[in-house]
Amino acid sequence: MVLDVAVEAAREAGMFLKSSVGKVKNIETKEGEVRNMVSEIDRGSEEIIINRIKRQFPSHAILAEESGAHDTSAEYRWVIDPLDGTTNFLHEVPIFSVTIGVERMGEIVAGVVYDPNLDELFTAEKGSGSYLNGQRMRVSQTPELIHSLLVTGFPYDIARNPDHPADHFTNFLMEAQGIRRLGSAALDLSYVAAGRFDGFWEVQLQPWDMAAGVLFIREAGGRVTDFSGAPSTIFKKNVLASNGIIHDAMLRVLAQPRSL
Ligand code: IPD
Ligand code: CA
Ligand code: CA
Repeated sequence: MVLDVAVEAAREAGMFLKSSVGKVKNIETKEGEVRNMVSEIDRGSEEIIINRIKRQFPSHAILAEESGAHDTSAEYRWVIDPLDGTTNFLHEVPIFSVTIGVERMGEIVAGVVYDPNLDELFTAEKGSGSYLNGQRMRVSQTPELIHSLLVTGFPYDIARNPDHPADHFTNFLMEAQGIRRLGSAALDLSYVAAGRFDGFWEVQLQPWDMAAGVLFIREAGGRVTDFSGAPSTIFKKNVLASNGIIHDAMLRVLAQPRSL
């Protein structure tokens, strides 16, 4: 039931995003960060999702990127990124998604990521596996880093971020088969769950970027931790997700000294 509403909301918001490409009227920056942009389309998508949830579940709490926390104490909380990949969207690059995770008593129990450009719907419920357009997803079986295709992203404050994300990128370039940067962390995580990528890391993520994707990877047989190898929560900002087999090798690269 919860997942059904999440899917309906993500599809409706995703179609709104797709039909809004090239029609943006007003772009602002957030948190004093010139690279961190938001438009009326991010907010419109969020409104569609929240209205849908509130119609069905008026007592549930919400944590959403553009409007913050609503009704903070409830058994269920919906964690929402109404447009993951805003930079791509504003440049009319068709790589962006809607992502919704649902917590019950603080634990993620359901999630959805919808890519309206490819009409790909990623879903999971805790304990029931994760799915891409209804087909069960499994992480890859790639055994070694040198044969692995990785994906990452960079925070908007990269110039002064203390976690030296550019150094991790350089270090992985030397050890992996290749690295991609899609521009939507929710899709990055979904693609690891689907076995398209073997691993993903990023610093400074927000809970709404990962709420659904982390569940997908666990349900697809992969592993998600912080950079020290400790179990991850959606409130830990530094995230490493992989097929599990290459995880320790990725942790060793993340522990390497700065390269620049
Ligand atoms: C961003 C994307 C991007 C990641 C950034 C996120 P937004 O989310 O997920 O891939 O590298 O860290 O902030 O701002 O487009 O919702
Ligand atoms: Ca995001
Ligand atoms: Ca967003």
